[in-house]
Amino acid sequence: MSRSILVTGGAGYIGSHTVLQLLLGGYKVVVVDKLDNSSEIAIKRVQELAGEHGSNLTFHEIDLRDKPAVEKLFVSEKFEAVIHVAGLKAVGESVQKPLLYYDNNLIGMIVLLEVMAAHGCKKLVFSSSATVYGWPKVVPCTEESPISATNPYGRTKSDSTWKIILLRYFNPVGAHPSGHIGEDPRGIPNNLIPFIQQVAVGRRPALTVYGTDYKTTDGTGVRDYIHVVDLADGHIAALKKLADPSVGCEVYNLGSGKGTSVLEMVAAFEKASGKKIPLVMADRRPGDAEIVYAETEKAERELNWKAKYGIQEFCRDQWNWATKNPYGYEPQAP
Ligand code: NAD
Ligand code: WQD
Repeated sequence: MSRSILVTGGAGYIGSHTVLQLLLGGYKVVVVDKLDNSSEIAIKRVQELAGEHGSNLTFHEIDLRDKPAVEKLFVSEKFEAVIHVAGLKAVGESVQKPLLYYDNNLIGMIVLLEVMAAHGCKKLVFSSSATVYGWPKVVPCTEESPISATNPYGRTKSDSTWKIILLRYFNPVGAHPSGHIGEDPRGIPNNLIPFIQQVAVGRRPALTVYGTDYKTTDGTGVRDYIHVVDLADGHIAALKKLADPSVGCEVYNLGSGKGTSVLEMVAAFEKASGKKIPLVMADRRPGDAEIVYAETEKAERELNWKAKYGIQEFCRDQWNWATKNPYGYEPQAP
């Protein structure tokens, strides 16, 4: 059987790390990406990092909503499975432009599923998100916890009617230990770690801490951060699981199972970088939950996967990526 895997969104942060782990695992990988929030340089770097496996990667700049282009791809190649990572993911923007999010994330997925079905490719790993747990009443979040999409972005991530593996990522952080691929958000970063990174390299003056009155040890929000390489490995584990004939539609949390506060993350980043991160204490960010972290037992048991890296490694690798690429994939300040 062909071991060719289609990765949508493979030029992005999570996609690029997943593609690298797939190549190193001996898979042939085809990436489609419209380079909306990413750069083709990431693809080139993945090819380099994969060494002798680099030639097993091909890239197509395609918008998934372009059905004839997706169709053409499936005519030219038989895929064993699809890892569907492509999507818009900025919560704030999704509230401002809900139709853009429904159009991109839902139409893109519908086109993909239609073409897959037409070509008899019915194995799918989907990038879902811990965002579907909303503000959980009970932590850790298990796969059975009630889901509540509190924003348009979240609603595009909660459809579980297909026979697929849904991976609910918690908060991906860090970068490949080489420092050659990492997260390169366009514009002002929404997420904590990219923001801290930009403060540390002098691109922004201070980190705004959203909320200091949560019922947590230091009053700041608690999240489950997971190293992006661990997350990438979780996709390989999911692909292997898809080979099990008993699998219908399964959901797995991909998290570390540990909660870390904003201030704990700042302290660890300061230690790893040797830089002081100036802080501005502010009100809570609308829509934010207090404490979110994963129960990881199901993934450990059924996928035989567990996060290996902790906060020291997140910060070390994030800082290594930042110092080598202070402006991401751009050579200098835009
Ligand atoms: P990213 O923006 O770095 O990567 C997403 C990629 O998808 C980009 O390269 C973008 O160009 C591409 N893309 C978007 N729409 C497309 C379309 N219609 N056709 C082709 N390509 C398209 O984001 P990421 O952090 O790597 O996230 C990847 C996925 O994981 C997303 O689906 C996101 O919703 C999900 N997710 C991310 C996080 C997170 O915190 N980063 C957490 C949970 C889930
Ligand atoms: C983490 C903590 C903030 C920025 C989001 C999406 C979720 C998922 C992951 C895609 C919170 C605090 C943040 C800042 C801060 N993505 N913070 N100052 O909100 O857990 O999840 O990304 O699916 O859907 O909602 O992650 O990194 O934005 O925030 O104090 O400048 O850091 O309040 O406590 P979040 P985050």
